[in-house]
Amino acid sequence: MKTVICPGSFNPVTLGHINLFERCSRLFDEVVVVVMHNAEKIYQVSAEQRVEWIKRSVTHLQNVRVEAYGGLLVDFARQCGAQLLIKGMRDTRDLITETQMYYANREASGGTVDTLFLPTDERYSYLSSSIVRDVASYGGNISSFVPRDILEEVAKTYFVKRPLR
Ligand code: PNS
Repeated sequence: MKTVICPGSFNPVTLGHINLFERCSRLFDEVVVVVMHNAEKIYQVSAEQRVEWIKRSVTHLQNVRVEAYGGLLVDFARQCGAQLLIKGMRDTRDLITETQMYYANREASGGTVDTLFLPTDERYSYLSSSIVRDVASYGGNISSFVPRDILEEVAKTYFVKRPLR
């Protein structure tokens, strides 16, 4: 059985992420989506909340499960019996950061964990969680960015009341 890991911050999960999970679900036997901590980021939403949003968005994918993990990605992969990480690739900026993480994970796992880059569907190549947070913070329309089932909650969560000037 081929188990693969889709790791990320998912702050919040976007339609681009969901598209990647759907493709992985078709390609592999089991897909584990894991919400993790990126040392370069600060999260205003708990990992549990981010997991819950993803779970509500992947109920149509029977072979996808969602977890949170606070440690090293390669340790999580080992616990799952997985040797393959899947990352979406939007552009050359992603290529640079993801290639660095690929080498780090390969080294940290003693060469046992590999990474596969899947090009992001062109409909979502511009989309990022930070764009969702930014638009939502002003009360803008994020309906083409995040799954319908979590839309209202995500919009409310990231909305920021700002003084007029
Ligand atoms: O969505 P992101 O923030 O680009 O995902 C990056 C993430 C969370 C997958 C990465 O930071 C990570 O793997 N964090 C867990 C800790 C770890 O294993 N770090 C070393 C790998 S570079």
